Amino acid sequence: MSTTAPGPRIVLSRYGYPGLEDVPLPAGAELVTPPAGASPDAAELRELVADADALVVSTPDQVDADLFAAAPRLKVVALVAVGFDNVDLEAAARHGVTVTHTPGVLADATADLAFGLILMARRRLVEATDIMRRGEWGAFDPRSFLGLDVANATLGIVGYGRIGAAVARRAAGFGMTVLQHSRSPRPDDGIATAAPLDELLERSDVVSLNVPRTPQTTGLIGARELDLIGPRGTLVSTARGGVVDEAALLDALRNGRLHSAGLDVFATEPLRDPHDPLLHEPRLVCLPHIGSASIETRTRMTAMALRNVCEVLAGRPAPNPVPA
Ligand code: GLV
Repeated sequence: MSTTAPGPRIVLSRYGYPGLEDVPLPAGAELVTPPAGASPDAAELRELVADADALVVSTPDQVDADLFAAAPRLKVVALVAVGFDNVDLEAAARHGVTVTHTPGVLADATADLAFGLILMARRRLVEATDIMRRGEWGAFDPRSFLGLDVANATLGIVGYGRIGAAVARRAAGFGMTVLQHSRSPRPDDGIATAAPLDELLERSDVVSLNVPRTPQTTGLIGARELDLIGPRGTLVSTARGGVVDEAALLDALRNGRLHSAGLDVFATEPLRDPHDPLLHEPRLVCLPHIGSASIETRTRMTAMALRNVCEVLAGRPAPNPVPA
């Protein structure tokens, strides 16, 4: 009788990654997932990884030093996400664990969502939908639901990586003038003109945040920056919670110092308190962190994350390691 060596144990932090059933896995791999709908806390995640060779995680999962210490066999943490601020990279390096992410494949979906937020906020689409749902569509009034134009306005993109550039391509179709500001200078792509941050904020009608969360970008947009954007300006963020000072944003919207805003990301996620003032500010559109949430995009992200797992477990370099 022959016995086969057991394959690697691959732990997924969530049930139901789209397309998982079609992804080729190492021979004999054992996939471990929590039940549908479960979101394991830090202690549960540590238990799950005790004898794991690979861990597949999403943005809300905190992958910290305690988790690495609890996972002696772990070789790879594969994020099904592009942002990696939820992973302690120093601890990963100390434990010799490769960390990978999914750049590129979600740029278009996230840019689509940023543009959705721009249109929703600037043209007051949520307020308009709400009055229809309440049966309050009144007589025509030439002043009702007046928003501000998106076409031909100036768009400032803060963080000109793949997602920022995808937002710029959409803006070009709207006839917008596009400015961009990035930590490292970007080659001229014929669409966006580089500008210092303050100048970008002052000149832009619409500002889109597309930076990763780092110590340098935390609190990047506060009261002073919102005032530079000004009372006819719109701010949208598909970046990370914490980049915008939410209290300052609410204050600017309430006092007419900013026209409108749209957030897909929050300092606290999930934002569950139905009484949270962010959810009740008429000029603020809120979405529950769904930038990459299309079937095609999430399927590509699953495939990319699992390919990284397979390559690392086979002893080969990860195709998409997080940048050093
Ligand atoms: C989502 O927020 C991501 O980083 O992919």
